Formats: sequence, C-alpha cells, structure tokens
Amino acid sequence: MRNIIVGALATIAIGATLVTLIVISGSIDPGADTPHSPAVFRALELARETAVARRAAQVAVPNDLTDPERVRRGAGNYAAMCVSCHLAPAMPDSEIRQGLYPQPPNLAAPASAKPSDQAAARRFWIIKHGIKASAMPAWSKGGMDDAAIWDLVAFLATLPALDKTQYDQLVASSDGHSHAATEGHGQNADGHGDRSPPLPGKPTAAHHDDRPHRH
Ligand code: HEC
Repeated sequence: MRNIIVGALATIAIGATLVTLIVISGSIDPGADTPHSPAVFRALELARETAVARRAAQVAVPNDLTDPERVRRGAGNYAAMCVSCHLAPAMPDSEIRQGLYPQPPNLAAPASAKPSDQAAARRFWIIKHGIKASAMPAWSKGGMDDAAIWDLVAFLATLPALDKTQYDQLVASSDGHSHAATEGHGQNADGHGDRSPPLPGKPTAAHHDDRPHRH
C-alpha cells in the first residue's frame, strides 16, 4: 500500500515538473495563427462546454423569445456589435473573424435544428459573461442589461432563416444600437444604463458595408 502511494505521488510530481518545464520553456506558441493540437483543442472545448452547461442550467428562459418585438430590437444590436465576428446573411467572411482563434461561429449559417430552451440559456450565458481567452466579450460589462441580451437570443433564433433583404429590413426597422436599461428592465451598477447614441446612418450601412477597401 505504502509503495502504491509513493509511486502515485512520484508520478504526479514528475507530471507536474514536465508541465512546468514545457510552460516555462516558451515552447507553447501563443500565436492566433497556430492552432492547438487536436487533443488540447478537444480538452479546452470539453472544459468550456461542461462549465457553461452547468452555469446555464441556472438561467430561467423567458417564454416570449418568439415575440417579433424582441427579434426587432435584437437585430439592431446584432448589426452594431456582433456582425464583424459572427457575420450576417450573404456576408462571406470578415477580416477579424478569419484572424481569430478560436474562430467565432457564423451565427447566420443555416441551422440544422430548432433552438431549444437549453440552447437559448447557453447563448444567454455566453453573451452575458463572455468566454475567457477568446475574443467573445462579456457584454454585461459594457452595460447591456438582461432584457437586451434576451432580445439578442431571440434574434439569433431567427437569423439563420433570414436572407440578406429580410435581414437588412429587420435591422433598418430596429432601434439600431440601443440597449439602455430603460422600460423597467433594471439598470447598471452605476444606475444610468448604457445610453450610447445610435450610430450615424443605418446600422446596415455602418456595419455591413459591401464597399471594397484596400490595404
Ligand atoms: C471580437 C469578436 C466577437 C464579437 C464582436 C462577438 N463575439 Fe460572440 N464569440 C466570439 C468568439 C471567438 C466565440 C467562440 C468562443 C469559443 O469558442 O471559446 C464567440 C461565441 C459566441 C456564442 C456561442 C456560439 C456557439 O454556439 O458556440 C454566441 C451565442 C455569441 N458569441 C454571441 C455574440 C453576440 C450576440 C455578439 C454581439 C452582442 C457577439 N457574440 C460578439 C467572438 C465575438
């Protein structure tokens, strides 16, 4: 028994030393243009999904996610804040998305399954809290309240079914970039909510610009 314990402790010590040596040797490439090995990628993905699922299980999903008003409000905020990383209908790719690792999923791509409550809770949690060591921001830190996040979740459920014209119309009919903590939806810690002025011009023109640029 004593030998087993000593053997196990020695194995753990050798393993920890090896990991420390690899970490301090500088051989782990931090560049976003070098992918993780498949094993590391899968381990990180498993850790993320398990942790998000555990936390999302505590989230109460509202029952009005198909309300067109929610979808309309979500559209403007999506066009203003998410398109560059998560794309829009008929938008082939973006420079920022191509360079990011992990790469943000294309949320406008046709979906194979109807989103479940579980998927909605997961999306809400991710949008609110972000994902560490990825480019996905915690939007609550910038002042977005829960109601505005649910509007985005409602919009995301609709997005894969939209074509470019429908998307552009929905964005044009929205309130643009607006997620002030108004209408009794609660406020930020500082008590005044995010009252960012709408972006100049239509959100589509500002954020989904088809004109070529040179560099
Ligand atoms: C600067 C880039 C960037 C912006 C802007 C951004 N995201 Fe993300 N987002 C990411 C990345 C990267 C991931 C993937 C993270 C990972 O795999 O660990 C992600 C993941 C997600 C996911 C989970 C997708 C899935 O099914 O796995 C959702 C939902 C999401 N983002 C919604 C949004 C919304 C809504 C906005 C705008 C309010 C937004 N994101 C803005 C980079 C971004």
